[in-house]
Amino acid sequence: MNDIYLDHAATTPLHPAVFERMLPHLSGVSGFGNPSSTHRFGMAARLAVSDARDRLAAALHCDSRQLIFTSGGTESDNLAIFGSIAAAASKGKGQKGHIITSQIEHHAVLHTCEQLQRAGHEVTYLPVDTTGLIRIEDLERAIRPDTVLISIMFGNNEVGTLQPIRAIGELARSRGILFHVDAVQALGHIDLQASQLPVDFMSFSAHKIQGPKGTGALYCAPHVHLSPQLFGGSQERKRRAGTENVAGIVGFAAAAELAVQNIGQLQQNCAKLRQKMVETFQKFLGDGGFVENGHPDASHRLPHIVNVSFPGVDTETLLMNLDLEGIAAASGSACTSGSLEVSHVLQAMQLPEEVLRSAVRFSFGAGQPEDEIVLAAERAATIVSRIRNRK
Ligand SMILES: Cc1ncc(COP(=O)(O)O)c(C=O)c1O
Repeated sequence: MNDIYLDHAATTPLHPAVFERMLPHLSGVSGFGNPSSTHRFGMAARLAVSDARDRLAAALHCDSRQLIFTSGGTESDNLAIFGSIAAAASKGKGQKGHIITSQIEHHAVLHTCEQLQRAGHEVTYLPVDTTGLIRIEDLERAIRPDTVLISIMFGNNEVGTLQPIRAIGELARSRGILFHVDAVQALGHIDLQASQLPVDFMSFSAHKIQGPKGTGALYCAPHVHLSPQLFGGSQERKRRAGTENVAGIVGFAAAAELAVQNIGQLQQNCAKLRQKMVETFQKFLGDGGFVENGHPDASHRLPHIVNVSFPGVDTETLLMNLDLEGIAAASGSACTSGSLEVSHVLQAMQLPEEVLRSAVRFSFGAGQPEDEIVLAAERAATIVSRIRNRK
């Protein structure tokens, strides 16, 4: 039996066409130059980066000058948060600005905010409802005269819930507050028009869309100040020092072009796969045999993420058994010291204990066939029934 990969929200395989585009910049013949060098090798690399920046900007519907290449989603989140807070402080907007984020952000945002708290800043972590949505009224109430930044993710990486980004952005703009959006999971699944949204910063990562690992970008709206967090050369218009990851950048742009071209098809396929998976669980486990977590309405969730709990079956046991059957899924929560932590996202959604402790995230990718999903769901249901019968 072939292995079945259902963990595309963690990472995706490199697209063969992306690999082809990257190859000349990895092999040592001509494309290995440093973009900062003035000779022809450097010029060729500079051109490749500039062409990739234009392509990525076209895919994201923004101006290429608004993009800063980074080492991935984590660095983009760090740069947006630390960089905007530092810029606000240097403009005299208070040394210790207030930040608003949500309880269900990725740790790249949460841990960055915690670091700011250690430095004396204040952070409000907005709660979410049982579907994973923040409430605009809570956000409005949390805004203070010293609020500098709001950081809310586009789509959640564990349950897929989409936040009301336009409404949040309009509120932020009306109060003169900067707005950062972690769009790492949304890129390639939702039609993102960076410059059409009331957003100041948006984080992206290549490896979630069949691009290479270790490459990402931060969109930074025109006229928004950002203090660099890496110092050295003048790369990225002095906003992010360091020799560019040329092959990674070329690969990211190629992956983004493909992802944007194929977005409709992927959305449709993921919706079909989700339906098949749920139908199969329904058939084998019946009503009450499983619980879908996240938003019940397809227009309020990412299409590729299906988070399901199997009450009475512990997440770790289920994941291990799935792995033995060649099925790769995830819990979405961190694994430290050998045991899974309960997901901070599901906890924030205030789900019952048995739902929290039995949740598994299945996430789909491009070209995934329907029969794979049915097979995986049948196997998962068989494991669940076996474990339940043992009790
Ligand atoms: C929502 C979200 N933000 C940020 C990241 C971090 O991205 P990267 O792995 O490129 O550092 C991830 C990765 O899982 C993510 O899902």
